[in-house]
Amino acid sequence: MISAQDPPLNFWASRAPRQPPVCARPCWHTGPVRIDVALVPGEAAPARADVLVVVDQIRASTTLTVLLDLGCSDVLLTGTVIAARRLAATTGALLAGEHRARKPHGFDFDNSPSELSLADVRGRPVVLCTTNGTAILERVRTGAHVLVGALRNARACAVAADGLARGGQRGIQVVCAGRNRRFVAEDAVAAGVIVARIVEILGARGEAAELSDAAAAAVRLREGFPDLLTAMRESDGGATLRRIGQPEDIAFCAEEDASATVPVLRAGPPMRVVRLSP
Ligand code: MLT
Repeated sequence: MISAQDPPLNFWASRAPRQPPVCARPCWHTGPVRIDVALVPGEAAPARADVLVVVDQIRASTTLTVLLDLGCSDVLLTGTVIAARRLAATTGALLAGEHRARKPHGFDFDNSPSELSLADVRGRPVVLCTTNGTAILERVRTGAHVLVGALRNARACAVAADGLARGGQRGIQVVCAGRNRRFVAEDAVAAGVIVARIVEILGARGEAAELSDAAAAAVRLREGFPDLLTAMRESDGGATLRRIGQPEDIAFCAEEDASATVPVLRAGPPMRVVRLSP
């Protein structure tokens, strides 16, 4: 376990509070804020965290953020094409998403955030069908607060997670969606960015964070790449996007803090995400 007050992490050493710590939490909360990362979805523990941040960096988290930025009324989530078609037929929603990374027959849109960013979806509900992103959201839907995070909304997500976790005892877990339940670097790098942001926010208030080894490793992984575009290019998701002929999504997904929108899960049914109110 690495404490954020220990010096080895560069991001922390350079951003340590200069004044004596002031506890902005309710006085009965004395300890540092626990931050964990589930590097694979099997490690997600919704009952053991006050706030979960689900990261499917390439591409579901980025797509969800874009859809809400465009003014969708809400986004309904399903993991199967058949359920997506049924839901769209009963709700009049547009259909977006992928099956095996490709646009299913009859869908209005792909799961491509760069393509969707040009779409006119304002005021419309959208059914989004994805594989790994939906599966992990299903798995953690019992969590008290489940946010959707990506590089695109990293700062906004960190601010929201910090706010929702205040006064709690269990802390924050950032959950990587992975691919077919396995580790992928793009999710871990984005998780590392979000963790570093939360630590920064706490540090600015003079509060401490306690990072699990997995959270510290995610931060280290991000530090191991010269920049986020390189990290996305060299990741499993980046290779998939090149293979399916959508390399433009790599740069789009690598954009950091382009959005102030924080999608929050509503367990349903049907499961949906809406924009977290400020
Ligand atoms: C997923 O949820 O499995 C991914 O977002 C797939 C994709 O990149 O389209």
